[in-house]
Amino acid sequence: MKKNKISKNWVNKQRRDIFVRQSKVDGYRARSAYKLIEIDKKFKIFKGGMFVLDIGAAPGSWSQYASKVVKNGKVISIDLKSMEEIKDTIQIKGDFTDPSIQKKIKDYFNKDLDVVMSDMAVNTTGIKNLDAIQTGELCKEAMIFSKDVISQNGFFISKIFMGSTFNEIVALGKKIFKEVKVFKPQSSRKDSKESFIICKIIR
Ligand SMILES: C[S@@+](CC[C@H](N)C(=O)[O-])C[C@H]1O[C@@H](n2cnc3c(N)ncnc32)[C@H](O)[C@@H]1O
Repeated sequence: MKKNKISKNWVNKQRRDIFVRQSKVDGYRARSAYKLIEIDKKFKIFKGGMFVLDIGAAPGSWSQYASKVVKNGKVISIDLKSMEEIKDTIQIKGDFTDPSIQKKIKDYFNKDLDVVMSDMAVNTTGIKNLDAIQTGELCKEAMIFSKDVISQNGFFISKIFMGSTFNEIVALGKKIFKEVKVFKPQSSRKDSKESFIICKIIR
């Protein structure tokens, strides 16, 4: 398919998408917000006063939602890209896999985080299995990192792609956490291999 035909199709798809339209009404920067909202509805994650780390946060819709629901809590957002400010959140521009950034976050929170959530995804190559493997590596790194920063009853949420690394990621989740669930929200596009892993309580 030609490039301008692909982008026309994309524009039409966006116009028809109810979550894109709703995000404009609700003031969210991306339709992704509704995936987190559905996760929260189903797993009852967020409460007032919580400390939350949002990894791969740009353009910021997950952080927007989190900062609304954790009134008087704290949200720290990190991304490779810069983001427009979000009220009551602290933003870090950088690579989450950089050990010096991870150390800073560990020292700052010292096992006080209630939720670590990651919607990190690499720039897609179009080769679905390769994209799944690379995004899976980011998920595993965030999961291992969580073990040292979240409280005993904390939550870990991450995007994963169904693919060859899926079983490995679930197995790692079960080593670190007592409860591990996989959930595909209605707002996640049907033709996407994306799903979310929701883990609870450190072993
Ligand atoms: C799907 S977007 C996140 C959307 C976001 N949850 C929202 O609701 O607005 C994925 C993000 O992951 C970020 N990302 C990918 N690799 C990263 C890394 N190593 N460190 C930090 N951010 C990363 C990308 O820059 C991109 O902005």
